[in-house]
Amino acid sequence: MRCAVFDRFGPPAEVIRLIDVPDPEPGPGEVRLRMQAMSINPADLLLMEGRYGARPPTLPATPGAEGVGVVDAVGPGVTRLKVGDLAAPIPVGCWAEAMVMPERAAIPLPPEVDREQAAMLKANPATAELMLTGLRALSPGDWVAQNAANSAVGRLVIAFARDKGLRSVNVVRRPGLEGDLRACGADAVVVGDDPAAILAATGGARPVLALDAVGGGATRALAAALADGGTVASYGLLSGEPCAVDAGDLVFRGITLRGFWLAEWFGRADPAEVRALYAGLVDKLRRGALATPVEARYPLARVAEAVAHAARPGRSGKILLTAG
Ligand SMILES: NC(=O)c1ccc[n+]([C@@H]2O[C@H](COP(=O)([O-])OP(=O)(O)OC[C@H]3O[C@@H](n4cnc5c(N)ncnc54)[C@H](OP(=O)(O)O)[C@@H]3O)[C@@H](O)[C@H]2O)c1
Repeated sequence: MRCAVFDRFGPPAEVIRLIDVPDPEPGPGEVRLRMQAMSINPADLLLMEGRYGARPPTLPATPGAEGVGVVDAVGPGVTRLKVGDLAAPIPVGCWAEAMVMPERAAIPLPPEVDREQAAMLKANPATAELMLTGLRALSPGDWVAQNAANSAVGRLVIAFARDKGLRSVNVVRRPGLEGDLRACGADAVVVGDDPAAILAATGGARPVLALDAVGGGATRALAAALADGGTVASYGLLSGEPCAVDAGDLVFRGITLRGFWLAEWFGRADPAEVRALYAGLVDKLRRGALATPVEARYPLARVAEAVAHAARPGRSGKILLTAG
């Protein structure tokens, strides 16, 4: 089978290449997925750059945190999945024609779901859901602010917030996205990192939670717009800048700055919590309630081109890899 690997850290499009290796065989309790579609996320780019929160134990390594495939082999002792079942892997290493994992690390999916949306299920929908449920108590009617709001996570935050009766004020860095984000369920859209514009957009209501994927001055703008005692959660490194928050907001207004990392959640969640999270997300997937736009699809053989495309600003959606 072919799989994408990188054997040094560096610019993703330069370090990624395709190799041929024997098909991996599932051992006891393991399943093999024949991959159909895989997404390219900012975390994959950070991993290849050596800037992600966890490094592969050895190189070469295969990136890819999200994908979907069909079970084509099972090891002894596998009880839940069978050949022909659709599933999404939890472990990293999806950019390959086939992937082996413990049965418990494969999210079972109903056969009728949209394959491309299924390939984008594991990380971003889970992140959006956990940030709206696990960072602080929220009540219907509360405002949530976020930046990078037209990202895949951002659009999911908008839709999930609307489902929960929360209101969202959404910062983007370029104009022309308002109609699109309002169609996702956004209550307000703001261009640029300006706390006064955020408050004007909410009619003066101060958000209690802010989700920051950018860092730098973008963090400061969200923090300054929050209600006293509000929480800013940093969950992305998009600008590469340290999060800046005015000391007065921390000292005099009780603003809290904290982080969120899905991998850290996986490390501490018990299996029942993981199953419950994905049961809810798979239900949304089945109902067509996950609708991350896709800008382009590339066969795995063109992985370097695909990765270069994923790193471009101003995309209208995700870049997917397809096996074949
Ligand atoms: N902590 C976690 O567990 C976790 C889990 C999942 C995702 N994430 C993070 O969530 C963020 C979004 O991921 P995604 O997959 O949803 O992204 P995506 O769909 O690939 O979209 C990237 C978005 O980032 C925006 N962007 C890029 N650089 C920016 C900058 N310097 N300033 C402002 N906006 C910028 C882009 O805006 P334009 O459209 O204008 O180019 C676009 O909206 C990433 O930082 C990712 O690492 C974190």
